[in-house]
Amino acid sequence: MSLPSLLPSLLKTYQARTEKTLEHWLPSANINPSQLHEAMRYTSLDGGKRVRPVLVYLTGQMLGASPAALDGPACALELIHVYSLIHDDLPAMDDDELRRGKPTCHIQFDEATAILTGDALQSLAFYILAHDPKMVSDASQRLKMVETLALASGSRGMAGGQAIDLAAVGNAMSLVELENMHIHKTGALIRASVKLGALSLPDANAAQLEKLDHFANCMGLAFQIRDDILDIESDTETLGKPQGSDQARNKPTYPALLGMSEAKRRADELHQEAIDSVADWGEAAQPLRDIAEYIIHRKS
Ligand code: IPE
Ligand code: IPE
Ligand code: MG
Ligand code: MG
Ligand code: MG
Repeated sequence: MSLPSLLPSLLKTYQARTEKTLEHWLPSANINPSQLHEAMRYTSLDGGKRVRPVLVYLTGQMLGASPAALDGPACALELIHVYSLIHDDLPAMDDDELRRGKPTCHIQFDEATAILTGDALQSLAFYILAHDPKMVSDASQRLKMVETLALASGSRGMAGGQAIDLAAVGNAMSLVELENMHIHKTGALIRASVKLGALSLPDANAAQLEKLDHFANCMGLAFQIRDDILDIESDTETLGKPQGSDQARNKPTYPALLGMSEAKRRADELHQEAIDSVADWGEAAQPLRDIAEYIIHRKS
């Protein structure tokens, strides 16, 4: 008989920890330039599923890191993610007006503020990795984290995937091209989350890192396939962002290219591959199996 999933309580614990850490690092809205600081807080606090920070915590804890050592990397990942969402919603990109159940940053403030808010959140993420005294003390591990997050965020990662996404509108895409786009625009930060969790241990070994990286690679792609499915099957209130936005803008998505049932089949296949790649950890990997299940079947 399988035990009841610990995921709901782990999610709650780590979502709360993420909120507290963000609150700690984000400048107060009373500090000048106050509108920029207000927008950083408006977009980052009190919203989102916090999947990337949760992946940092679950991976790090499975390998034996303390939650305190994981707070900085978890917060850094979330800040990069929020920056990516703010820019993704801009008129020059997806032109969306609702995010996490609230007006998007450029609607609540203005476009210039939204651009600067994304920039500032990105810089804050790297500041935390360089500065947080609670993180792993080994400077070379910390440097590997900076390197990993920089690569995952830039033109070889998320920003590159976003460029491919924008260039693809109105053009035919092959399956290989579509998966390549998803792996970059969304997969890269999911992968970095798992890797920063593992790098929070001073002695992460290469073979373990490779298996975890395979897990994360599969789940990163599956995460975006699920996001594409929800754009069709969910509703705006549940999503907290406009349902149907992809279809309205003719975006390249998994269901658009292959149809809904094939999109779901591919997500299930990736889920199984992810689970297989953490088999070595046995029971200790149950939280990772649970979050994989959550990512595949989530409703928002
Ligand atoms: C949405 O990410 C954008 C994608 C990369 C698909 P999430 O679904 O993680 O959004 P939040 O953080 O919960 O709002
Ligand atoms: C966004 O993909 C990926 C990012 C890098 C933000 P989407 O454009 O599908 O994300 P949503 O649906 O707006 O959250
Ligand atoms: Mg987009
Ligand atoms: Mg979008
Ligand atoms: Mg989407």
